[in-house]
Amino acid sequence: MARIKRGGHQQSMKFATRAIHAGQEPEPATGAITVPIYQTSTFAQSAPGVHKGYDYSRTDNPTRTALQTALASLESAEYCLAFSSGMGAATTAMLLLKRGDHVVSSRDVYGGTYRLFRAVLESFGLTFSFIETSNIREIERAMTRRTRLVWIESPTNPLLRITDIRLAANVAHRRGALCLVDNTFASPVFQRPLELGVDLVLHSTTKYLNGHSDSVGGFVALNDEADAEWIKFVQNSIGAILSPFDSFLVLRGTKTLAVRMEAHDKNGRVVANFLAEHPGVQKVYYPGLTSHPQHELAKKQQSGFGGMVSFETGSLENAKQVLEGVKLCTLGESLGGVESLISHPATMTHASVPAETRNKLGITDGLVRISVGIEDVEDIIEDLDQALR
Ligand SMILES: Cc1ncc(COP(=O)(O)O)c(C=O)c1O
Repeated sequence: MARIKRGGHQQSMKFATRAIHAGQEPEPATGAITVPIYQTSTFAQSAPGVHKGYDYSRTDNPTRTALQTALASLESAEYCLAFSSGMGAATTAMLLLKRGDHVVSSRDVYGGTYRLFRAVLESFGLTFSFIETSNIREIERAMTRRTRLVWIESPTNPLLRITDIRLAANVAHRRGALCLVDNTFASPVFQRPLELGVDLVLHSTTKYLNGHSDSVGGFVALNDEADAEWIKFVQNSIGAILSPFDSFLVLRGTKTLAVRMEAHDKNGRVVANFLAEHPGVQKVYYPGLTSHPQHELAKKQQSGFGGMVSFETGSLENAKQVLEGVKLCTLGESLGGVESLISHPATMTHASVPAETRNKLGITDGLVRISVGIEDVEDIIEDLDQALR
């Protein structure tokens, strides 16, 4: 596998600069400053097996390579592989494991991750313990001789729970396991798990990385060469690659990631504070609020709190009133786009989690999740206020 370079001098530059320049030198043939969409399935060879580094677009494509170089730089990684979706990235990363291996996982992971683990991978001989990873002791207790991976989502979807990533990685490593963080909610602007000692970081680029709700994708970034080679081998074998056009879109979105995240964070804080004071809201889940149980940890491990806010309305009827009453916020799945999206985890993103498990976790019928966009925050608040009334 060709080593993905960190970008030399670019790595010494600041994040926002790397978001625009890493892997994105002007194209040599024409000088185009934007990486072209190499919309080609195959590449001409001058003799059998002699080519310019690309032979077939499932294996490698120049637009995807540019994106992977940029994303590796942003997550402080040596290697990055871009996939057809966040779940494609998750499935391929899980194939680092073998039949009989055990996984310790955060319990309120994204519903699709839970479904992949329980409904698909268990039947291939993997076993899972879903625990409260924000309690490090629980991780220690759940580890067995067979534990090969600790899978952490922090902040979690949808309850915004925070795990101490450095401590979790230490526990995993002491017991000979790998540690992976799904960093989709925080984005590499606010949190870089590899710098905190984990082995793999995973994203759904569908969310903040692309940022414009017009592409589905994902990536895995890591530093270990052998693991990167295996993931690339498996990716090429099963074919869950990001297309050239989607690679272009994500690369374009990534250029503005730093400014977008600042705006999401600013609006997220205002919306969370507004909801916390609202008489129609029973509880707000946002790591930026001092009432959040891991607020201090979030402050230490993240440089911002982001735009994801969940809140408890008390009942399905109340939740419905808000979800159907909003005019500016769009009712829909997904998150991380420039526009505000509102959703009902129990019936939408987490419908694949059994009701009993959902209730145990606190994903109640009255829970509403907002992905706070970057519109003028006064308009977002006015919209929520009228829906809550
Ligand atoms: C935290 C998290 N991880 C992974 C995924 C899966 O990503 P995708 O929908 O791109 O497959 C999602 C999707 O919502 C998510 O919220």
